[in-house]
Amino acid sequence: MYKKMLMTPGPTPIPEKVNQRMAEGMIGHRSGDFSELMRRIKPKIKDVFGTKDDVAILSSSGTSSLEAAMVNLAAKDENVVVIVSGAFGARFEAIAKTYPYNVHTYEVEWGEAADPADFKDFLNSLDDVKVVVSQACETSTAVLHPVTELGEIVKDYDEEALFIVDGVSSVGGMKFNMAESKIDCLISGSQKALMLPPGLAFVAMNQNARQKMKDNDLPRFYLDLNQYFDSLDKDTTPFTPAVSLIQGLEAVLDSVAEEGLENVYDRHAKMRDMLRAGLRALDLELLVEDEYASPTVTAFKSTSDELSHIKDELKNNFGITIAGGQKHLKGQILRIGHMGYMFPSDIIVVLGALEGILSKYRQNDYYGKAIKEAQEVFFNDL
Ligand SMILES: Cc1ncc(COP(=O)(O)O)c(C=O)c1O
Repeated sequence: MYKKMLMTPGPTPIPEKVNQRMAEGMIGHRSGDFSELMRRIKPKIKDVFGTKDDVAILSSSGTSSLEAAMVNLAAKDENVVVIVSGAFGARFEAIAKTYPYNVHTYEVEWGEAADPADFKDFLNSLDDVKVVVSQACETSTAVLHPVTELGEIVKDYDEEALFIVDGVSSVGGMKFNMAESKIDCLISGSQKALMLPPGLAFVAMNQNARQKMKDNDLPRFYLDLNQYFDSLDKDTTPFTPAVSLIQGLEAVLDSVAEEGLENVYDRHAKMRDMLRAGLRALDLELLVEDEYASPTVTAFKSTSDELSHIKDELKNNFGITIAGGQKHLKGQILRIGHMGYMFPSDIIVVLGALEGILSKYRQNDYYGKAIKEAQEVFFNDL
């Protein structure tokens, strides 16, 4: 028997309090109890998305919020730009190509962030773009795109163009201010920094986006977000929701409010910095430059043999699960998730395990080295 540590970039561990809240028992989704629950959740969830506007809750995985944002905010034959720098950008592109849009892909090398000046040139080379889509964190590479600069560029291009941001692996783990970053629609999922099981998707939208959505006559039914926002006004949902997850969501929102949102974000940034310092001390090359490193997931490179040894040993000897690379990064990187119910102490544990694994595998003495670097980051910032 060993203690299990889930350090993948989603799903992530669930706090005990949240599990208990989800196990409290079912309530009817058309009952007064559920309306009260929704009434309590509505203002609290806005803080996490950094908006004063409503956040719709869907009972489906994160991909549904990508597709919902697309079909509600882009009308037939419109020009849509998708930033693709990894597997999730590619998924958004595939969704966009499913519908009758003119899709323009802005390709970024995997492991790099979108370069604002270059992106601006790309956008300016196109006429009449109505929607631009980016990830905040591209989970497959652990890159954080410069969302605020991108938002600025989109609105300079055309004040009416909508900027959609995929925050599935970042909302809850870093600060968003939708108005400041000129984000019209910010989407997310439950199973990452929001510390819930998979099964909820979220869509925050400003009034501009809401208006375009109302006018958009592209056919859609289950993902017609007008229904979700209309129902939200009445403290309910259009269809049967994942009631227990929404009960758990309240516990999550209370817990982050209790810790303080700024403290939550600082904790994530600190875990990133500790982990990066420790991995460097183990002579592991980081995939992403410091400037664009995500506070929620970190990727490092090595030979495919060493990576597969590290992943297996972490799992078999320490009960720690981390993730491999996706698509062409398979066998080239490993990814450690550090979002949601994760703490600096977890980083110390994974680095300690890596020290031992690599000392043995490389016949080199790494004992204490990564932990020392991580501790310095931790204590120097106190
Ligand atoms: C950035 C990003 N977008 C979209 C998704 C898709 O979410 P789901 O797997 O919940 O459908 C993920 C999942 O890992 C993600 O990290």
